[in-house]
Amino acid sequence: MSGERTVTLIPGDGIGPALADAVVRIFAAAAVPIAWERITAGDQALRSHGAAIPAELIASVLRTRVALKGHLAVRLGEERENPNVALRKLLDLYANVRAVQSFPGRTSRYPGLDLVVVREATEGEYAGIEHRVVPGVVESIKVTTERACTRIARFAFAYAAAAGRKQVTAVHKANIMKRSDGLFLECCRAVARDYPAIAFRDLIVDNACMQLVMDPYRFDVMVMQSFYGDLVSDLCAGLAGGPGVVPSASFGDDRAVFEAVYDDAPAAAAPGGANPMILLVSALAMLRHLGLGAYAERITAATAAVLGEGREVTRDLGGTADTRAMADAIIARLGSG
Ligand code: IPM
Ligand code: MG
Repeated sequence: MSGERTVTLIPGDGIGPALADAVVRIFAAAAVPIAWERITAGDQALRSHGAAIPAELIASVLRTRVALKGHLAVRLGEERENPNVALRKLLDLYANVRAVQSFPGRTSRYPGLDLVVVREATEGEYAGIEHRVVPGVVESIKVTTERACTRIARFAFAYAAAAGRKQVTAVHKANIMKRSDGLFLECCRAVARDYPAIAFRDLIVDNACMQLVMDPYRFDVMVMQSFYGDLVSDLCAGLAGGPGVVPSASFGDDRAVFEAVYDDAPAAAAPGGANPMILLVSALAMLRHLGLGAYAERITAATAAVLGEGREVTRDLGGTADTRAMADAIIARLGSG
């Protein structure tokens, strides 16, 4: 069909293929004008091609500029870099964004919550530089560069300005990591001066976590380095209702990978039974990114109807449906949505 947008699809490992299948079928039923370029990556690609991230994956994303991805499996203790992190670095996807809002039809402790976590994703604790100094002593090196800090601060402020948001909070631990986090904070302050219409403040990460749990409505956009962002983004996803509520997107300057957030353990524990929303929410964010928001709204309404009825939902939502059956229920509601 002409006018179709090509998107790279990376089903990934574990529950990934079942989640990807659910999204592909829901999108087809909603006549979303997307053509998928499906790429095998992760464990399966490691076995067949000797690389968890095959060259054709990178080439595909550089061509399509947008991808939807499940999780690439990792074995703890394995020496090679986590492939999910490696992919972000290879594609220079430096800004991981979680827009934290509740999902229509799902209960949340904090109704109407609306905040955004912007996380630097290529360096800091995620630089992946570790070595054994002597037996029994290991050093992990946190790399902080002015370039990456300024780039993520600019991204956060530009995002806030474009979305009409009022406040940016830099989250750090500069009272302990005086040089690295101090540099991050300095870069954020410098960028903040270019955005006088947006209020800027900074918070130490532990205090930010406490305030988030007590009153998350005090927050708007937050920006932080990789590891704090990993923790805070999951904390915020929990505030909004748990897995499958908050989308995750990793942006480079001219490309974006929309990602499912899950890890290997639940993937193994829930064969066939995983909640399709885990990938669907990120796929809906991708549609909005592509200017296909009307399709996203229609699918959201159908999903909200299924959630509201509460019968054809997966176990984590109190039902007995498997991934496919819940996707079928969403498809069945598309007409009425
Ligand atoms: C996330 C995930 C990843 C991370 C894992 C899968 C490498 O937890 O996207 O938050 O740590 O960044
Ligand atoms: Mg995480």
